[in-house]
Amino acid sequence: MSSDTAGLCNLEFLPRYERLLADNLPPGFTQFAEFFSGTQRLHTLAAVLDRHLAGDGLEVLNVGSGPFATEIFVAALQGHRVTAIDYKAEFAPFHELFRAEGQLETTSFVQADIMARTFPSDAFDLIILHDILYENALDLEAVIGRLIPAIKPGGLIFFDFVNARTRWVWAALGKPDRFRRYDPDAVRRFLAERDLAIVEWRPTHGAKRRVVKATHQLLAAFGMPNNFAVLARRDGG
Ligand SMILES: C[S@@+](CC[C@H](N)C(=O)[O-])C[C@H]1O[C@@H](n2cnc3c(N)ncnc32)[C@H](O)[C@@H]1O
Repeated sequence: MSSDTAGLCNLEFLPRYERLLADNLPPGFTQFAEFFSGTQRLHTLAAVLDRHLAGDGLEVLNVGSGPFATEIFVAALQGHRVTAIDYKAEFAPFHELFRAEGQLETTSFVQADIMARTFPSDAFDLIILHDILYENALDLEAVIGRLIPAIKPGGLIFFDFVNARTRWVWAALGKPDRFRRYDPDAVRRFLAERDLAIVEWRPTHGAKRRVVKATHQLLAAFGMPNNFAVLARRDGG
């Protein structure tokens, strides 16, 4: 396996996945076919889960699932019982569409706003928030705070976020800053206060456009990664 495909699976389905997105996304959403088919977005998540997710038939919650790229292409998630949740009606039909293609056999889907949804306590072995906490309407501490009781003791939560300390770089480059950002130290403090022990904390370089990816790599080389991915464990396992 090359490093470009490590931790991924079902890549033979990728052209069909992109075609189905392109053909079925409503007007105004068609540009997302290429975005979600860019599996480089999933490399860090796939590698981190490959290293740390152990066991069979685990209960997984994927928050902000979009059109199910994570469920289909991340190898470590295959065979587990995944509950995918997303509030956008535009992505909902893809659950049935991909199931008709033999995908998502162990994935159920709920169309809902994560901030309006409650879950039973200790329900999930893993909760994933991949590429969602950049949303201005979501607050990292509020979202994760309400999800913590739903993680089984000893269970995991994966999330990624945009670094507040690199905001000035994008401003200096004259780029509009569309993302909600967080200070890494504040995130570490929050995790410690909520008894979430860091398992992995690493920079991510999932951007597709070469210039953006190069900027991310340059920032990381100077000790200022633009994005971080975090895997943390709820104490008590
Ligand atoms: C960039 S997409 C990422 C999709 C998926 N996690 C992935 O990495 O392929 C962000 C997703 O989060 C969803 N989202 C944003 N805010 C949400 C909320 N409050 N409740 C549920 N879903 C939300 C959006 O609808 C969108 O599908």
